[in-house]
Amino acid sequence: MPADPHDPLRRYWHPVAWSHDVSGGPKPVPLLGERLVVWRDGDGTVRCFDDLCIHRGTALSLGEVVDGCLVCPYHGWRFDRAGACVHIPQFAPDARIPSTAAARSHRCEEAAGLVWVALDEPVAPIPTFPEWDDPAYRHVPCPDYTWATSAPRMVENFTDFGHLGWLHDGLLGSRDALEVPSHRVRQEGLELHYEITMQVPNTNDRFAVTDLSGNRGLQTNTYVLTLPHTIWLRCTYHDTGAHRTLFFSARPDSATSSTGFCYQSRDFALDDDDAPYAAFQDLLAEQDRVVIESQRPEELPVDVSAELHLPFDRVAVAYRRGLAGIG
Ligand code: FES
Ligand SMILES: [Fe+2]
Repeated sequence: MPADPHDPLRRYWHPVAWSHDVSGGPKPVPLLGERLVVWRDGDGTVRCFDDLCIHRGTALSLGEVVDGCLVCPYHGWRFDRAGACVHIPQFAPDARIPSTAAARSHRCEEAAGLVWVALDEPVAPIPTFPEWDDPAYRHVPCPDYTWATSAPRMVENFTDFGHLGWLHDGLLGSRDALEVPSHRVRQEGLELHYEITMQVPNTNDRFAVTDLSGNRGLQTNTYVLTLPHTIWLRCTYHDTGAHRTLFFSARPDSATSSTGFCYQSRDFALDDDDAPYAAFQDLLAEQDRVVIESQRPEELPVDVSAELHLPFDRVAVAYRRGLAGIG
């Protein structure tokens, strides 16, 4: 599907790549139906261009970075950090390079270990990850995952309490206790705040994540959903007071494909191996993926008369209303 130049999402920051994945060569990234390329200039600053050479439409991401410039793989034209073409090898040395020989450049920033891009003038700041600079926390980046669905379907999954004990039986809840505890949601600007306290199974024998003694423990999950596609979740374990947080932001690759970037962070067991924590998140994500990719339509209906909402879906309803409000 071609990119929509009037898409309101162009005015928000979106994560496009892990910072550590943008190092050696240029990296192609999809965003809102556009093909983009991110790369580092001579100062190590991340730059973002359309992944398209003005000369013959070649993907610049197939090229290389030389002397702080992005070099097209086809004829070797060189584009500087601002996108201006500074060298055309087919020209005589004294030939004037036309100003139209340029790559289209986009706003690009790094925050919380991610590269963020806004295609048009942004109307909101990059969402914050409060634990990012907190030395009490250890951060485990999960592998990014691409699902055949829209970003809002991916995000709404984080608002859905009803599925925790059913789909993630034995991991995030249990099929013998499915009643959703009462909770409220309030909107502050672009943020939805909600919280729920529930019993969780002790998964310590399989994944060292819940850090609970006994069979089941109580945990309070505090969420901030920043429109359009970012979630911060802090789990507080009542028996120890320890916290596990999840920072998740989805990149809308297109209307029907999206990529999630997720950190799982903790302020306990700081010297533990991270593998069980990552494995726990992988298992949950895979259970979710199969279901979320099956949902039709892939684009989340923001008209709340579509689909059937019950009281325990109130966060999803607030999310759909919030999206309708910005869109
Ligand atoms: S297509 Fe890029 S330099 Fe010719
Ligand atoms: Fe889930």
